[in-house]
Amino acid sequence: MVMVASSGCVAALILTIAACRSTAIKFEKVFEWKQLTFADLPEQSREISDGAVNETFQPYGNMPMGVVHHKQRLFISIPRRRPGIPATLTVIDLSTVPGGNRSPPLFAYPSHSVNQLQPGYRSDLNRLVSVYRTRVDACERLWFIDTGTLNYPDNPVRVQDPQLWIIDLRHDRVVHRYLIPDSIVFGDVGMVSLTVDVESTDCARAYAYIPDLVSNAIYVYSLQDDDMWVFSHSSFAYDPSRSQFHVAGLDYEWDDGVFSIAIGQNDTMAGSKLIFYHPMVSTTEFGTYASVLQSKRIAMSHNYDELFQPLGERGPNTQSTMHHYDPQTGVLFYAQVARNAIGCWNTRQIYGPDTHAVVHQDDLELVYPSDLSSDSDGTLWVLTNNMPIWMYSRLNESDYNFRVWKQSPAIAIQGTKCDN
Ligand SMILES: *[C@@H]1O[C@H](CO)[C@@H](O)[C@H](O)[C@H]1NC(C)=O
Ligand SMILES: *[C@@H]1O[C@H](CO)[C@@H](O)[C@H](O)[C@H]1NC(C)=O
Ligand SMILES: *[C@@H]1O[C@H](CO)[C@@H](O)[C@H](O)[C@H]1NC(C)=O
Repeated sequence: MVMVASSGCVAALILTIAACRSTAIKFEKVFEWKQLTFADLPEQSREISDGAVNETFQPYGNMPMGVVHHKQRLFISIPRRRPGIPATLTVIDLSTVPGGNRSPPLFAYPSHSVNQLQPGYRSDLNRLVSVYRTRVDACERLWFIDTGTLNYPDNPVRVQDPQLWIIDLRHDRVVHRYLIPDSIVFGDVGMVSLTVDVESTDCARAYAYIPDLVSNAIYVYSLQDDDMWVFSHSSFAYDPSRSQFHVAGLDYEWDDGVFSIAIGQNDTMAGSKLIFYHPMVSTTEFGTYASVLQSKRIAMSHNYDELFQPLGERGPNTQSTMHHYDPQTGVLFYAQVARNAIGCWNTRQIYGPDTHAVVHQDDLELVYPSDLSSDSDGTLWVLTNNMPIWMYSRLNESDYNFRVWKQSPAIAIQGTKCDN
């Protein structure tokens, strides 16, 4: 990709480098919604029996958390954290959205029935309960964890055990489901993201790395072996010194552990790809190798303490939900929830506060970047959702609350210290 040296940047160079850096190119807003709407809500004819929760569509509870893009389709996930969410996994076909429609309606995916809760919240492993974030792999498959739990305030319902789902996007067909065994996951489920490691030349040899922010664990699933193992490490836990948040005029304290895993470049010395990970409540980045995560033998040995290491510190207010490594630019991008920003770090530099930059920051429109992913072209997609306001105050339903953004990595870093 050709780097465009903007004339504004050249002019600024005459003044100071800092002025040049302030010209970083922002993300492009794709859609924005005041509240989510659905295109295909089924008739709500079912009687609500005594003691049952009213699951009729209630727009305010529909808080989108995840976005991925694949070949003109956006997949948006809405975890069931309030009653009245008609579908936890949805799609927008961009080719059918009329130009100028900034707030298109969602369609349940892969179908409405798969998204429908059974009466009395009966377990049904063919249906989806609650999905936080999804990822598309190099083989055009959509991967995600259904947590199996309705996280209703004061009244959580464990409908069924968590399941890993894989859907072939070329045929919109569920190709595999893996029920996560009780022997691995007991207690609360905090699997809100996953990262898929596979080459397009060997689709059977795929691994999913699944962090769990509640149990401070990383689960690894091998598609070839249809097997899962687990790593636990002190670096997966939150950092109490980074637990205070001040966002959108609200003060709150969080304790989320390991949250996001990014696959880095191949380290030729180690003969394996680098793995970057962080707890959300932390400003330290940690690393290991794909060869470590992919070894059930190492996981079972419980003797891997030194194979997970801190890489460095990003600096205050850089707590991050999702992050992603872009192989074209060699840059790691972060969704930063304590300062309403997208940040970056060039992996050719030393990991430290001075080598991190802000690509886009906005205290009104970028509050709580909940997801950051890339599509097969390398384009970055970001979802912002104002979640702290929804949790601790009240969203203004007459104003825009949820936004989807995109940008090419090479353009995003222009004029920042990540661009070299
Ligand atoms: C269920 O909720 C909907 C939307 O809030 C409401 O219109 C309806 O009256 C409720 N039904 C019952 C039986 O409470
Ligand atoms: C990484 O590099 C090593 C050494 O060059 C090579 O043997 C290995 O196949 C590479 N791995 C990947 C995943 O590209
Ligand atoms: C809500 O948003 C609308 C539209 O931007 C604005 O006119 C109104 O003042 C806002 N209400 C509050 C309470 O901020």
